[in-house]
Amino acid sequence: MRKPLIAGNWKMHGSLSQAKSLVDGIKQHAAQYADIDILVLPTFVHLYIVHELLKGTAIGLGAQNLYLGAQGAFTGEISAAMLADIGCRYVLIGHSERRTIFHEDVELTAAKFKAAIEARLIPILCIGETREEREQGETNNIIQKQLDPIIHSAGIDAFRHAVIAYEPVWAIGTGLTATPLQAQEAHAYIRQIIMKNNVDIAKTIRILYGGSMKAENAVSLLTQPDIDGGLIGGASLDAASFLKICAAASQEAAALKAH
Ligand code: 13P
Repeated sequence: MRKPLIAGNWKMHGSLSQAKSLVDGIKQHAAQYADIDILVLPTFVHLYIVHELLKGTAIGLGAQNLYLGAQGAFTGEISAAMLADIGCRYVLIGHSERRTIFHEDVELTAAKFKAAIEARLIPILCIGETREEREQGETNNIIQKQLDPIIHSAGIDAFRHAVIAYEPVWAIGTGLTATPLQAQEAHAYIRQIIMKNNVDIAKTIRILYGGSMKAENAVSLLTQPDIDGGLIGGASLDAASFLKICAAASQEAAALKAH
């Protein structure tokens, strides 16, 4: 059984005091959901304080990006080794906002994925199609084009220590959510690509859904067989909303156990 993972991507949001109160709010109730993994991904400047506040809890910490190499003359960048050193376990790689706003191409995404693995961070590789690509029936093609080069470059074994997030670009921050069926189909296709490379990894790898997931739609998405959790943007900035999604995932974990 795959343990559900609920991850909060805070993006470029929050002040120091907001970061502290958000963590406090999540901490108060997270222990009730021991059957799932909970993770927060604050901004770089809030990582360290969040790390301190999370000590003694089971809540994981991750970053939203990294740059290549351990250190060097790369003004404004942060390396995988630095993230690991301050207590991060996870890092987002290839978020659609990185790909579109910052023009990160598939080669850079693949190199960042490898850098995460080499630093023993767990990369959360984000993939997904735009609205136009979906309307043109290109969803599966795009998924394959985004996933294959990473498998090719890092090797399938690297995916033993990775998470994939299916985030249809048209659903991110728009209030539009993929229907449970649309999401399930994409997740099943992703798992099928992994399966062609390694059956065991396909069975164990967690594939998260991201794109306007919130308390109201979490149950219908998380009960799909190939959806193993969520990568939450907007709804992760409010402790109560985030915890409701954690509760939905925990309920699903309990139901799976009972079977
Ligand atoms: P929203 O939940 O705000 O749509 O963001 C999803 C996302 O991009 C998470 O990485």
